[in-house]
Amino acid sequence: KILILDFGSQYTQLIARRLREKHIYCEIHPFNISLEKIKEFAPKGIILSGGPASVYTEGSPKISKEIFELGVPVLGICYGMQLITYLFGGKVIKAEKHEYGKATLEVLDRNDLFQNLPETFNVWMSHGDRVLEIPEGFEPIARTDNAPFASIRNKEKKIFGVQFHPEVKHTEYGSEILENFALKICGCEPSWTMKNFIEYEIEKIRETVKDKNVICALSGGVDSSVVAALLHKAIGDQLYPIFVDTGLLRKGERESVERTFKEKFHMKNFKTVDASDLFLERLKGVTDPEKKRKIIGHTFIEVFEKAAKEIPDAEFLAQGTLYPDVIESVSVKGPSATIKSHHNVGGLPERLNFKLIEPLRELFKDEVRELGKELGLPDEIIKRQPFPGPGLAIRIIDEVKPEYLEILREADAIVLEEIKKAGLYDKIWQSFAVFLPLKTVGVMGDERTYDYVIAIRAVESTDGMTADWVKLPFKLLERISNRIINEVKGVNRVVYDITSKPPGTIEWE
Ligand code: XMP
Repeated sequence: KILILDFGSQYTQLIARRLREKHIYCEIHPFNISLEKIKEFAPKGIILSGGPASVYTEGSPKISKEIFELGVPVLGICYGMQLITYLFGGKVIKAEKHEYGKATLEVLDRNDLFQNLPETFNVWMSHGDRVLEIPEGFEPIARTDNAPFASIRNKEKKIFGVQFHPEVKHTEYGSEILENFALKICGCEPSWTMKNFIEYEIEKIRETVKDKNVICALSGGVDSSVVAALLHKAIGDQLYPIFVDTGLLRKGERESVERTFKEKFHMKNFKTVDASDLFLERLKGVTDPEKKRKIIGHTFIEVFEKAAKEIPDAEFLAQGTLYPDVIESVSVKGPSATIKSHHNVGGLPERLNFKLIEPLRELFKDEVRELGKELGLPDEIIKRQPFPGPGLAIRIIDEVKPEYLEILREADAIVLEEIKKAGLYDKIWQSFAVFLPLKTVGVMGDERTYDYVIAIRAVESTDGMTADWVKLPFKLLERISNRIINEVKGVNRVVYDITSKPPGTIEWE
């Protein structure tokens, strides 16, 4: 396994992704973890990530030189390479201008890091400092027009550096470079596969749980579904999944979840708690989006807690925490204001007093999908677009009323059905309908109508942090609009949201 020390680069997670795609296990830790911890981890190789700092400024993140005496190969990327240069007595200076973008790499030595790769290929540069002199014992093994030391090596100590970013897709053969480092130089085995992972986790879960029972909040989303499927495989009917119907779900959602887990997976102790009346009662008269979220969050916990108390011998709570939530970030966070307080069933409070089981803690989202597939979950769940915890409540502007919910559910179902039919569902991050409680004038047949407005939202994104509105084909928009107006009573106008994030957010509330 490989240890990645993080110096705060926005690309650090990508290094881990690239290695794991090649079936090499790795973990990301902050650059300042202790030497003892590193020894305990017993890596076969260490990668130093990039980072925004300059090695020559005081207080910039450094590591002990002892790391290079552990007898394992080290690869420094960008800042990591500058740090190696600095620590071994070379010279790093501020570059005249920030080098950003593609450069052609000319490989000088194809024996280790660049084994089996072409003599020249494109790499991605992004740095403000550059190496002026390399330390004694080091030699250049690749260059570009701008950087005579695009890659360096200390053969004897097995220390390598690359100024470019092999982890980003713009670098051709980037994955191969990382693979060469891990397999050829460090001697790792490419044994990180989902099958191994499942076996290992099942064993671990059984050892932990013994004869006690485990509960989990199953929402039907990817993460909680995969957790439930994995646990069920490990401990069978000792698992008690609880599905809360908040009354804010989409059309057919409850039935689909019940079908999958009760019927297909035979989870005998699957329990649906229908709390829709309670949620709707508490949301009555509430218009403020943050208030809605708080009410829904609290009510959810209350309902879940009550249901959990009824389960005998329940000692554990299984949760779908993912790796990106676990990685300790070293990046200096600015004073970013809370834009929206996200409520998610993922985070149940500690006072519930259960011991936690988090079998997805080491996985990235796409690995979770792969795991779900391996466990036999249907595409309907694995490829599901994200759906917010507060559900349709934040897609009804203003007060949540049963009448509005009914209209929104029907309209939303049409949006999804048509998007799926057009083969676009998997390509879009989220697509849905929003209900606007304002009436506008229309004409249908010979009659004047005075009805509500539905907005359609479809966005592309990789993480929900930023998003672009999708240029859906006009024909498709036309069909959706026609169907909603014809089939959903109470709607006479459909509009399309063409706002990206920022400045808009994905949800309207
Ligand atoms: P925004 O609207 O902030 O949404 O651009 C970004 C992503 O987060 C989802 N979202 C939520 N998810 N609870 C959730 O679990 C929430 O309160 C919540 N609000 C927004 C949204 O669907 C999008 O994927």
